[in-house]
Amino acid sequence: MKKLVLAVVLMCITSFVAGKNIVCYYDSRAANYSTPIFPSNFSTTNCTHYIYDGVGVTSLGDVRVLSSYDTSSGFAEFLSLRKNANIKLFVQLGSERDGSRSLTNAIAGRCERLVNSVAIFLEQYNFDGVDIDRRTNDFDKGALARFVNRLRSRLYMINKQLSVSVSPQLVDAYDITSLSLYADMINFHAYNFTSSTASTVNLAPLFSAGSAANSVSVNSTLTSWLAAGVRRNKINLVVASYGQTYALASETQQGVGARSTGPGAAGSNTKRAGLLARYEFCALKYTEASDSDAATAYYFSGKNWVSIETEDTLVQKYTFVLDNGLAGVGIYTVDLDDANNTCTNGAYRVTELANQYFLDE
Ligand SMILES: *[C@@H]1O[C@H](CO)[C@@H](O)[C@H](O)[C@H]1NC(C)=O
Ligand SMILES: *[C@@H]1O[C@H](CO)[C@@H](O)[C@H](O)[C@H]1NC(C)=O
Ligand SMILES: *[C@@H]1O[C@H](CO)[C@@H](O)[C@H](O)[C@H]1NC(C)=O
Ligand SMILES: *[C@@H]1O[C@H](CO)[C@@H](O)[C@H](O)[C@H]1NC(C)=O
Ligand SMILES: *[C@@H]1O[C@H](CO)[C@@H](O)[C@H](O)[C@H]1NC(C)=O
Ligand SMILES: *[C@@H]1O[C@H](CO)[C@@H](O)[C@H](O)[C@H]1NC(C)=O
Repeated sequence: MKKLVLAVVLMCITSFVAGKNIVCYYDSRAANYSTPIFPSNFSTTNCTHYIYDGVGVTSLGDVRVLSSYDTSSGFAEFLSLRKNANIKLFVQLGSERDGSRSLTNAIAGRCERLVNSVAIFLEQYNFDGVDIDRRTNDFDKGALARFVNRLRSRLYMINKQLSVSVSPQLVDAYDITSLSLYADMINFHAYNFTSSTASTVNLAPLFSAGSAANSVSVNSTLTSWLAAGVRRNKINLVVASYGQTYALASETQQGVGARSTGPGAAGSNTKRAGLLARYEFCALKYTEASDSDAATAYYFSGKNWVSIETEDTLVQKYTFVLDNGLAGVGIYTVDLDDANNTCTNGAYRVTELANQYFLDE
């Protein structure tokens, strides 16, 4: 009887909060830009979840804070977003930042210790959940499945949530049944499908159409995951807010698949080759072209080439989320969105549009 009552209560809660997820990543490196962006800048944006990106782990299974900014003010400022709304605040754990295999090693060799370290860390800083960053192909999928299972049980005890970030194009690298069972959310980073910079590629083709450069797409990868049995109501389609840039080999070849000599020049604020924040991109005046079969747009000027979402292409992706009954969207990252309305469509347009779109559902 008690169980039945609980089940009814849970059903009511579930249908009450049936809205879509809007999961916003904050990359703590943004606090170091010449014009920095801090968590306090997001108090008026509209996300259901925020994820603090920038904490590592050691191969021995301990959580490793990577910057003194995090513990001096980053975490505290981030966690104070909670007072503005009923939002969930996660921390992402990965090893990308230091380029090592430490997370892979800890999951494989120090599973129990890592589970404990994560639980203690979430309690210590009062995060609501953890996002495990598995967007690499250097791990044992059985070890990841065991880890996610163990971590899920441990986090139930302290009422914390668990999400896993995946690279959609690596469908065979994951035990999809375990992820569907144990993760509260699967963050499906469906952009930047190829590491080669030898030719121009759309950052996130929605459909595999048009040129050969679009063969891996949001649609093709999602279809593979669904065929492998993933639970669609666990998937957040993560879109990129930034622009991916290339240096063209020739000014006479400026389309998708054109030869490139490498990543484009770094932006003046973000200072990372091959990437421009939205506010950096909008300050440039490039020619727009669309690759409508793939539902993407790109921009060029001389030997500069950029692939970035437009309002149109975002709406098509958000519609795709609704049409496919997914859990919601993610935005990677909110600090690379149009923080100061340089694009003149309103600040943080990628998030704002998601909010309008999913509210109007
Ligand atoms: C971000 O917040 C800082 C301090 O809270 C403020 O000085 C700055 O102008 C804000 N940046 C933007 C782009 O709003
Ligand atoms: C976003 O949140 C702010 C307040 O935090 C609110 O004024 C604004 O209307 C919201 N935008 C949307 C699209 O809901
Ligand atoms: C900011 O830069 C300093 C100096 O290079 C570095 O020690 C620190 O870890 C950086 N902080 C973040 C959040 O990346
Ligand atoms: C895109 O993917 C490559 C690896 O394939 C990675 O090195 C790079 O950091 C990614 N870019 C972004 C902005 O995440
Ligand atoms: C999406 O992918 C599936 C499987 O590859 C394909 O059958 C379908 O036609 C695609 N949708 C579009 C609109 O291209
Ligand atoms: C704000 O706008 C200016 C001009 O468009 C740009 O140069 C600057 O880097 C922007 N950045 C931030 C973070 O506010």
